[in-house]
Parts: sequence; C-alpha cells; structure tokens
Amino acid sequence: MTKKISIAIDGPAAAGKSTVAKIVAEKLSYIYIDTGAMYRAVTYKALMEGTDIHDEESLFRLLKGTTIDLVQESGLQTVFLDGKDVTKEIRNSNVTNNVSTVAAHGAIREEMVHRQRELGKRGGVVMDGRDIGTKVLPDSELKVFLLASVDIRAERRHKENVEKGYPSDLAQLKEEIMLRDKNDTEREVSPLVKAEDAIEIDTSTLSIEEVVAHIIALAKERIERP
Ligand code: CDP
Ligand code: CDP
Repeated sequence: MTKKISIAIDGPAAAGKSTVAKIVAEKLSYIYIDTGAMYRAVTYKALMEGTDIHDEESLFRLLKGTTIDLVQESGLQTVFLDGKDVTKEIRNSNVTNNVSTVAAHGAIREEMVHRQRELGKRGGVVMDGRDIGTKVLPDSELKVFLLASVDIRAERRHKENVEKGYPSDLAQLKEEIMLRDKNDTEREVSPLVKAEDAIEIDTSTLSIEEVVAHIIALAKERIERP
C-alpha cells in the first residue's frame, strides 16, 4: 500500500494556501482541511450572537458548544456551523476583520489545535493555516511556507472579488491584509512563523499550476522515500 503522508501549508493571508492545498489534496486523493475556515466560523457565530470577541472565557464557552464541519465535494468545500451552511457568510469583511482577534486567544487556539489534530491523525491530509507546521502537525513529512508580496496578494484577492461580483476596493484590501498579517505574526500564542524545516515558496511570479506541481513533486519524493 502507498504510504500516506501529512502536508502542512502555512503562510500569510491570500498567499494562495487554500487554492493550492485543495488541488494538491485532490491530486493525491487526500483530505483537505482549511483551518482558517474553523476560526472564521467561530468568529461569525460570536458576531451573530453578540459575544465580546475580546472576552476569552465567553468565546471559549461559545466554541465548546459549537460544531464545525468541513465537507469537500467535487472540489468545493462547504462549511457547516452547528449544522447550518455558512460557507459564504464566513468570508464577509466583518468576519475577515475580526477573525485575527478571535484567533489570538490561547484557549481558542488550544481547542482548535485539538480538533485539527483529531481531523489529521490518520494521515493522508493536506492542512492549511498559520501554525500547522509549527504546532498542529509538527511531525508532518512535508511543510510548505507560501509567500507573495502584499501588493500581489491584494491584487489577487481583488481580482477574485471582482470575478465573483463582490464589491472590492484594492487599497482597502491591502490595508486589511497588512493588518491581519501584523496581528497573526505578532500575537503571543502560536504566531505565524515559518517552521525551521519548512520549504519556502515565493508564489509572486508563479501560477497556481506551477505551485501545485512543485508541491506534488516534493510530496512524491517523500511518499516514495523508503
Ligand atoms: O484565507 P485567508 O488568508 O484570508 O485566511 P484564513 O486562512 O481563512 O484565516 C483567517 C484567519 O484565521 C487568519 O488571519 C488567522 O488570524 C486565523 N488563523 C489562525 O490563526 N491559525 C490558523 N491555523 C488558521 C487561521
Ligand atoms: O488561502 P489563502 O488566503 O492563502 O489564499 P487563496 O484564497 O488560496 O488565494 C488568493 C487568490 O490568489 C485566489 O484568487 C487564487 O486564485 C489566487 N492565486 C494566484 O493567482 N496565483 C497563485 N500562484 C496562487 C493563488
């Protein structure tokens, strides 16, 4: 039987993590786990219910009573929050601008890491986020750190919004991305940092297909390694 490995993909906002992780998982017939969607889902619930996102204890209680399910079907991911489809809602700008505050709380991270490890423990998984290589799956056989300049990342998100028909302002997007990167890299608990043994890929001048091909080649080397 072919060996199944775990692949950790980390990096800053809009570096292409989820797009690439999803395709890599499909090509290898692995499970894809979007950990950002889990932080987004609990943030959405807190905002809907009026929970103070600065109050760690209340948020933790909220999360303990929350189920988050990620379902992949023919290349599409659906996010269920307490059984309700919130795939679209968790991408709105209110959630985007508050999620890094929620994700900075130690108790929230501990619970999320526990859930993510459970999801990834059988291997054959591609997981993307900010602390996958450092914290969630520190023993994963392949760790990738995706990067791109902030201008390119903002332009990519802008293009994506325009294509989807969503309102979008390039300058504002760039500000939001920079603020989220700052929050994610400067927080005390599990900040966004490249794992020592992660392979860095700057995607600024690479197409999605090129990034995918690079990661698949790295994965195959590890799968075939005796
Ligand atoms: O896709 P995008 O880069 O916009 O972000 P995401 O992956 O959906 O993650 C949203 C936010 O969740 C991040 O900005 C982090 O604050 C947080 N997050 C985290 O702290 N740890 C993770 N493993 C994944 C996401
Ligand atoms: O998950 P993360 O926030 O890191 O980024 P994403 O949502 O996967 O990618 C952001 C946007 O960049 C998407 O519209 C991708 O299609 C695009 N992208 C790209 O144009 N070229 C790449 N090499 C990677 C992603």
